Amino acid sequence: MSSQDVNAFAGPPPLRGGTQDMFYAQSNIVPLPVITRTKGIYMWDEDGNEYIDASSGPVVSNIGHGNERVAEAMAQQAKQLDFAYSRVARHRPNLALTDRIATLAGPGFERVALSSGGSEAMEIAIKFVRQYVVATGQPKRRHLLTCLPSYHGGTIATLGMSGDEALGDFFDGFGMTSHKVPAPLTYRLPEPHTPESYAQFALDALEAKIYELGPDTVLAFAIEPVGGLATGCVVPPPAYFEGIRDICSRHGIFLIFDEVLCGTGRTGQFLNAHYYPDALPDIVVMAKGLGSGYAPLGATLFPAHLVDQLSTLTGFGFSHTYNANPITCATGLAVLDEYERLNLIDNAAAVGDYLKERVWAMTDEFPIIGDVRGQGLLLGIELVADPVSKQPMTADFLPTEKIRIHGLNNGLIIYSRRTAGGKYGDWFLLSPPLTITQAECDELLRRLRAAFIDFVSDWKGCQ
Ligand SMILES: Cc1ncc(COP(=O)(O)O)c(C=O)c1O
Repeated sequence: MSSQDVNAFAGPPPLRGGTQDMFYAQSNIVPLPVITRTKGIYMWDEDGNEYIDASSGPVVSNIGHGNERVAEAMAQQAKQLDFAYSRVARHRPNLALTDRIATLAGPGFERVALSSGGSEAMEIAIKFVRQYVVATGQPKRRHLLTCLPSYHGGTIATLGMSGDEALGDFFDGFGMTSHKVPAPLTYRLPEPHTPESYAQFALDALEAKIYELGPDTVLAFAIEPVGGLATGCVVPPPAYFEGIRDICSRHGIFLIFDEVLCGTGRTGQFLNAHYYPDALPDIVVMAKGLGSGYAPLGATLFPAHLVDQLSTLTGFGFSHTYNANPITCATGLAVLDEYERLNLIDNAAAVGDYLKERVWAMTDEFPIIGDVRGQGLLLGIELVADPVSKQPMTADFLPTEKIRIHGLNNGLIIYSRRTAGGKYGDWFLLSPPLTITQAECDELLRRLRAAFIDFVSDWKGCQ
C-alpha cells in the first residue's frame, strides 16, 4: 500500500478493499486511530499521537508490544522451517510448545491440541468430547450447557454456545444453540441475593436443567471461570467452582473451562483453574495471551487418558491446515520464555491488585463507577447512572462507545462494546499488558481520570 492509500483513511471509504472495521455497524461512532508503531504498553498513530494499550487489544497483548526476542524467534523459525503439515510430518517446535504448555498446566492436562485462536480451540474441545462419547458408546450425550450471559467465540457453533440474547433473531431457525443456565453474576442481583446465594441459585439452576434434559443426554458444561466482555470480568465465588465440579462429576458431564481470555497468566496463575485445585475442569481452552498478538495461537488441554483412549478407538478425526504450524509454535515458545524471564504471572497478580485498588479509590470522585471487578490484570469497570440503585446509563448515551472516545482523546485505547444489548449493564475492560509496571499504571490512571472527567461532563450534558 502506498502512503497515499494510507492517507485515504481520513476520507470517504475506498472503492476497493478497506480496513476490517468497514464490516462493523456505522453506528459505531468511535473514530479509530491508524496505528503505525507499538512498543511495550504504548501505541502511536500516524499523526504521532501516543496511546496506552489499556485493554491489550481484546486482552491479547500479554507480553507487550514490540518484543524483539519474539520477533527474532519468529524470523529464525521462518528461515529454518516455515511449514510442515501435521498429517504428513512432525516437527520439534510442536513437541517443545506442547511440552511447555502441559508442564505449566500441570497434572490432568498432559495433551495439548494446537489451533489458530480461541473459537477454533473451543470447537476442538466440543468436537473432541462428542467424538469421545460416540466412540465409547454414549451417543445420546449431545446437549451442551453454557451460561447466560457468556461468550465462547465467533464461529457459528461457538456463537451458538455464547449467551447473548441480542443474537436471538440471527439464530432463529438457523444454527444450533446450547442450553443456557444463569451465569453466577455478582453485581446487579435480584433482591435479596448476595453473590454467594446467587451462585447457589445458579448451581441449582444448572442441576435442574440437567434433570430436565436427562442427565445421560448432557455432553458438556462450558464456562469462562472469569468472565470477559460478556459479563465485565465476573469472578464467581469459590464455592461455585466446587459446585459445578461436583455436579458434572456426578452426572458424567465434561466440565470445560474457556480460558481463552482469562488464561495464560492474566489473572495471576498460569491457568485460572489453578485457583481451584480441588475443582479442576476436564478440559481447558486457551488462546489470546498464548500468542500474545504475535501469531494466531490457540490450545485445547486434555488429560492424557482421554486422548490416548480415543486414539485407540476412532482417534480425533478433525484438523485445520494451520494447526501446530512451526512459526506459530516457535512464537508461542518465545512468548512463554518471556513470561518466565519477566516474571509476568506474579506481576499480573501484584500490579493487578494495585490497579484495582486505585480504580476503586476513584469512585468518590466518579460515582459513575458502579463496580470494579476481576482478578489480576483482568478488570472490568461497570458504568452506572447511580451507584446506589445501580441503574445503568441510558442506552442512547452509548456509554461503552463514549468511554472509548474519551479514552482515545486522553491517550488510552480501551476495549468496550455493548453486549447482550446492554441487558446486564455497561462496562469496559482494563487489562493492560502483563509487563506493566506500577509507574506505568500511575500514568494509565492519570489518563483514565482525565477520560472520566470528560465522560462525566458529556453524560451531564445529556441529562
Ligand atoms: C472467553 C472467550 N472465548 C472464546 C473467544 C474466541 O476467541 P477468538 O476470537 O480467538 O476466536 C473469545 C474471544 O474474545 C473469548 O473472550
